[in-house]
Amino acid sequence: MTRIDANSGNATSGSLQPIQIFDTTLRDGEQSPGAAMTHEEKLQIAELLDEMGVDIIEAGFPISSAGDFKAVSEIARVVKRASVCGLARAGFKDIDRAGEALKGARRPRIHTFISTSPVHMKHKLNMGENAVLEAIGASVTRARNFTSDVEWSAEDATRTVPDFLCKCVEVAIHSGATVINVPDTVGYSTPQEYFQIITMLRERVPNADKVIFSTHVHNDLGLAVANSLAGVLAGARQVECTINGIGERAGNAALEEIVMALKVRKDIMPFSTNINTTMLSRASKLVSNVTGFPVQYNKAIVGKNAFSHESGIHQDGMLKNVETYEIMRPEDVGVHATSLMLGKLSGRHAFRDKLQALGYVMEEAAFEDAFKRFKDLADKKKHVFDEDIMALVDDEIMRGKDTIAVKSIRVESGTGIKPNASMTLVVSGEESSVKCEGDGPVDAIFNAIRQAYPHTATLQLFQISAVTEGTDAQAQVSVRLEENGRTVTGKASDTDTMAAAAYAYVNALNKLLVKREKQAPEALTVAR
Ligand code: KIV
Ligand code: ZN
Repeated sequence: MTRIDANSGNATSGSLQPIQIFDTTLRDGEQSPGAAMTHEEKLQIAELLDEMGVDIIEAGFPISSAGDFKAVSEIARVVKRASVCGLARAGFKDIDRAGEALKGARRPRIHTFISTSPVHMKHKLNMGENAVLEAIGASVTRARNFTSDVEWSAEDATRTVPDFLCKCVEVAIHSGATVINVPDTVGYSTPQEYFQIITMLRERVPNADKVIFSTHVHNDLGLAVANSLAGVLAGARQVECTINGIGERAGNAALEEIVMALKVRKDIMPFSTNINTTMLSRASKLVSNVTGFPVQYNKAIVGKNAFSHESGIHQDGMLKNVETYEIMRPEDVGVHATSLMLGKLSGRHAFRDKLQALGYVMEEAAFEDAFKRFKDLADKKKHVFDEDIMALVDDEIMRGKDTIAVKSIRVESGTGIKPNASMTLVVSGEESSVKCEGDGPVDAIFNAIRQAYPHTATLQLFQISAVTEGTDAQAQVSVRLEENGRTVTGKASDTDTMAAAAYAYVNALNKLLVKREKQAPEALTVAR
C-alpha cells in the first residue's frame, strides 16, 4: 500500500509548491445536460475567471460548433492573464480548428486527447494499441505547429492497462506534450488508486520530470475533489476543475473546494494557488445564474448554509469563539452578511459603488439599464438587498443580446376566471401579440409564448424560489426545456412571479437557439 504523503511529488516541507488551476467550466461544465451558455455569458465567466486568478481557462471545443469556435477566439482575445485553451480530438481537423481559434491568445494552449482504455478503444474508437500510439504521436506533433504549450489527455486513463498508459504518456512527451492530463473520465477511481497512477507515471515514464502532470476527475462516486487532492499529493501540479463542480453526469471536481482545501490545510498539503478566494462566492453565483443550476444549500464553500449555524450548541460556541465551529471565515470566500443598503432614494453614485463592491464592472449603457431596473425594483420593494442587486444585474447581462424578448405581459387569474395571458414578444425585431388561456396563469403564459413563437421544445422543469426573505421578495424562476435531446435551463427574477416565469421561459428559448447550432461533442468521431 502506498501512503499518501504531503512530501511526495515535488513538495518540499516548509515551502509552498504552486498548483496551476485549470478551469473547464466553459468546456466540460457546459457539457452538462441543460447547461448551455450564450456567447456573452461565456465571455462574462471567462473574464471573471481571469480576474479571479485561474491559470488556464479551457474556453471550449472549437470544432464542435461555430459558436464554440467564436467563443474560444473571443475569449482568447479578451483574457489578460490566463492561458486560453481549446480542446481537440486526435484528428488534424480538430487540432487545426483549435489552433485557428486560439490565434489571438497571448498564451494559447491546445488540449488534445484520445481514449486509451480497452473498452473505449474497442467500442468507441475501433482502434488497436498501435493505432492509438500512432495517433498520439501525430496529434501532439500537429498541435506543436501552433503552440509550444500542448496538453495531452488519456481519456479514461484510470481504466487503462498501466503498461499501455505508460507507453502512451511516453509517446506524448516524446512528441512534445508539455502537460500530461490523467482523466478519471467516468469517476471510477479512489484517492489511493489515483495517487498510485500518478506516482507510477512519474516514476516509470522517461522524461516525466520535464512535464506537468494534471488531474481531471469526474464525480460519479462523489470522490472528485478527494481524488484530485490525492493526485496533487502524488506530484500533479495542475488541477482541472469547474465552478460549482458542474460537468458531465455527476460533474467535475469543484474548483472552490479544491482551492479552499489547499488553503485551509496547508499544514498537511503545502501548496498554493493564484486564486483570489474572495471571488469564489461571486463566481459560483454567476455560473449558477447562467446555467440555471441551483447550488445545493449544504454545498461546501458556496452553499447558502455553508457558514450558517442553526443548533443552539453551535451558536453558543460560535458566540464564545468562532474557531469552535468555523475552519475558515465567510469573508475569505466572499460571503458577507446580508446587508440592507439601497433604497428608492439611492442615486447613480451609490448604485455604482454597490456594483463595484459586489464585483461588477459594467459598460455605461448596461449600467444605465441596470440602474433603471434597480429604480423600478426599489419602487416595488421596500428593502433592496445585495442578493436583489446581484439577481437584477445577472438578469440584465443574460437578457443583453437575445433574439426573443418579452415586451409586455398581462395575466388574469382567480376564482371564477379562466386564467389567461396577453403578451407581446419581440422576435428578431418583429412584434407578435397574442392572448391565450391555460389551466393556470403559468400555463396561460407558456401557451402564449408557444403561440407567439412556435417551437417544439417541451417543458421539463418549472421551479420558483425567493431571492431574499419577505413577501415582497423577488421570485427567481428556472425553466428547463428539451428539444431533440438537447436541454437548456433559463432563469429570471422579478418581484412579479408571473413576469419572472415569462422571462425565464424566453431566456431558455434564447439558449435553445444557441444550442441548436452545436453538435454534441460525444457524437463527433475521431477521423483525421
Ligand atoms: O473526462 C474526460 O476524459 C475529458 C477529456 C476530454 C479530458 O473531459
Ligand atoms: Zn471530463
